[in-house]
Amino acid sequence: MERVLLIGNGGREHAIAWAIKRSNVQNELYSLMGARNPGIAKLCKEFFIGDALNAATVAKFALSKRIDLAVVGPEAPLDAGVVDELLRNGVECASPTRSAARMETDKGFARELLGKYKVKGSPAFGVFTDLREASDFIDSFGKPVVVKPAGLTGGKGVKIVGEQLRDSNDAKEYAKEILAEGVGGIRKVVVEERLDGEEFSLQAFVDGRRVVGTPMVQDHKRAYANDQGMNTGGMGAYSDAGYILPFLKQDDYDEGISIMKASVEAFRKETGEDYKGFLYGGFIVTAEGVKLLEFNARLGDPEAMNTLSVIKSDFLNILERVVDGNLKDAGFYRKATVCKYLVPEGYPVSPKQNEPIEVDEKAIESSGAVLYYASVNQKDGRIYTGSSRTAGLVGIAENIEKAERIAESAIGFVKGKLFYRKDIGTRELIQKRMDHMKKLRGHL
Ligand code: GLY
Repeated sequence: MERVLLIGNGGREHAIAWAIKRSNVQNELYSLMGARNPGIAKLCKEFFIGDALNAATVAKFALSKRIDLAVVGPEAPLDAGVVDELLRNGVECASPTRSAARMETDKGFARELLGKYKVKGSPAFGVFTDLREASDFIDSFGKPVVVKPAGLTGGKGVKIVGEQLRDSNDAKEYAKEILAEGVGGIRKVVVEERLDGEEFSLQAFVDGRRVVGTPMVQDHKRAYANDQGMNTGGMGAYSDAGYILPFLKQDDYDEGISIMKASVEAFRKETGEDYKGFLYGGFIVTAEGVKLLEFNARLGDPEAMNTLSVIKSDFLNILERVVDGNLKDAGFYRKATVCKYLVPEGYPVSPKQNEPIEVDEKAIESSGAVLYYASVNQKDGRIYTGSSRTAGLVGIAENIEKAERIAESAIGFVKGKLFYRKDIGTRELIQKRMDHMKKLRGHL
């Protein structure tokens, strides 16, 4: 009997819990959550509501339950050293150490690492701790830039000239704010060339040497339909039957995997440490080819809900192989998925928290959609919204259009002060992506 600890309580973690419970490896699942996610609670033998950022608390719970294998969902516990503390206490982890998680938690580290080892796919960039140098770079660059805090911002820290920033003066002001206030927890700013193209998320399992990819997913950052509004953690995502999105190519996928492999190799050469766990490449396909926007040291949220809904291989066995350094290929059902996130009114700026929601789980099941609870709290038999995204609904079908209709048909079964993006996965939106790529490829 394998005793597994899952850390985190969002939609991604509900999907991880569900994939672990489908495993043929006999297991008991334990969970450490910041708030009671009823979906995870139902799948667990036992859960503990506590601070996932307190490494000592996590290790104490793991030891008390004689955990064999731990897996961390979100990035913040990785940055807080939870994996390192578990390893020190003899608990195996299928997630990266704090040092390895710098691929995400310090975007300056990742860019400079790839630069040093000449990994292809990087845009022009500069990493700065000094405002004068950052400003000089922006002034002399001559093209629109993207300004990013090097640290963690929950996907909401990236600002682009022409979108959130009007011009290079705005870019310099934002760089100043990042450096002065330590936005993202580090006084370091990354300035990059702005790229035009279509984005895709490529999640992979890594055992130190091997990088095993999963199907491409496209997430939707903006809060409102037609990519309007503020950036969010992601409002929903889709994947096609097979590995490739309809507007992208196998070559794009292969290029992404090759960049990830080279990066894992560069990390090992630089630090002497094996990168183990999930690695997520945020890529963009431009007229000049595939470029890396950023790495995450975890599965994506919502992307994990897409991917783990169609995983055919035994997920817990994959986690064991990540730890043991003997990964094999992973298989997926040939199905398209569309995930739509319901989020609290006011999200991401001032989400209406602690509002009750009503969920008709039976009706959702009958609709064919899969429900993943996310930032919610169950107390006294009711479910309340938290500060982030509330629940993901995933449609699974032979093509994206059908999967979209399934997800859409279930939306009304979650009631509350919530909203969602109706356009994710629709034919119109996919057509727009197709047209965009055609135009760009015409320039090749
Ligand atoms: N959906 C984007 C992320 O997980 O970072």
